[in-house]
Amino acid sequence: MEQRERSGSKKRRRSRCLLVGAGVAVLIFIIVVVAVAVSLQDKTDFKTTFVRRCEEFTSKDKQLDCETAWTAFEKAYVGKDPCEVPMGAYDPLIAATPFKPSCNRMMFWSKTKDVVHDFTAKKDCFVTLEDTLLGSVLDGLTWCGKEGSTETFTTGCPGWTQCEHNPVRSFWNRISAGFADAACGDVTAMLNGSITTPFHPASIFGSIEVKRFNSTKMRTLNVVLVTDDTSPVANCSNPSLKDLQKELDKGIKYFCKEVTDSKIEACGSDPQKPCGSCW
Ligand SMILES: *[C@@H]1O[C@H](CO)[C@@H](O)[C@H](O)[C@H]1NC(C)=O
Ligand SMILES: *[C@@H]1O[C@H](CO)[C@@H](O)[C@H](O)[C@H]1NC(C)=O
Ligand SMILES: *[C@@H]1O[C@H](CO)[C@@H](O)[C@H](O)[C@H]1NC(C)=O
Repeated sequence: MEQRERSGSKKRRRSRCLLVGAGVAVLIFIIVVVAVAVSLQDKTDFKTTFVRRCEEFTSKDKQLDCETAWTAFEKAYVGKDPCEVPMGAYDPLIAATPFKPSCNRMMFWSKTKDVVHDFTAKKDCFVTLEDTLLGSVLDGLTWCGKEGSTETFTTGCPGWTQCEHNPVRSFWNRISAGFADAACGDVTAMLNGSITTPFHPASIFGSIEVKRFNSTKMRTLNVVLVTDDTSPVANCSNPSLKDLQKELDKGIKYFCKEVTDSKIEACGSDPQKPCGSCW
């Protein structure tokens, strides 16, 4: 009786062991399958995302072939050391997908990304770089190539500040330059009035865009200095804004207006408010 019970519990223990072992094996198998799937997806997904986003965008205007855009894009960095991709590597891409001029509606920004995109998402008044084909397709993505490889990688790429000539940073610098080259008519720039230097010479706006503004096409630069309702740090007399005026191509008229962020939010929310004159 006692003997049988003991051998029975031994058997039960053994089968429990087998069950746990099988469970662990299944779990490991699932983990491996998922990891392989994720890594495969990682490699094919970037082009898929690019083409899908591009086709979503161009469904509005059927002038562009997204496969051609992808080929021009990929050429800039594939097979290269990810720290040796200069801005100029994207010149053929810009040539293949030129910016459509949107005179009087172009909006530049520096350190105000969320407020600006919150506004432009609600009202179709302004066009930011992220509303253009290339800007919208690549916004939020990371990519790089590798020497001796024909693939696009999305992990293990150098960070924004890790090396200057990385594929992502050079891309944003190059398309910012292209967007600024296209600036025409009355142009708006939203700068941050909650920091001591709203116009920072090292920002993309300060180091690239402002230098490209050309008075043969551009009439005015309207700075909207977005201030905090309660404690504004900078106003339109801020010394950095004097530097901005000095940088501007002679012949471009300059205006500056302080606008609170709640006012901008109100302008975005009210469908009755006209585009330009809300602030
Ligand atoms: C201005 O910059 C500050 C500090 O980086 C940030 O907290 C704030 O959200 C920015 N303001 C706007 C309008 O984006
Ligand atoms: C503006 O454009 C004209 C004509 O294309 C060119 O000659 C001039 O150098 C440009 N100026 C700037 C500041 O880029
Ligand atoms: C702008 O700010 C400066 C320094 O904070 C202050 O001295 C000046 O009075 C302000 N100007 C206006 C017009 O509010």
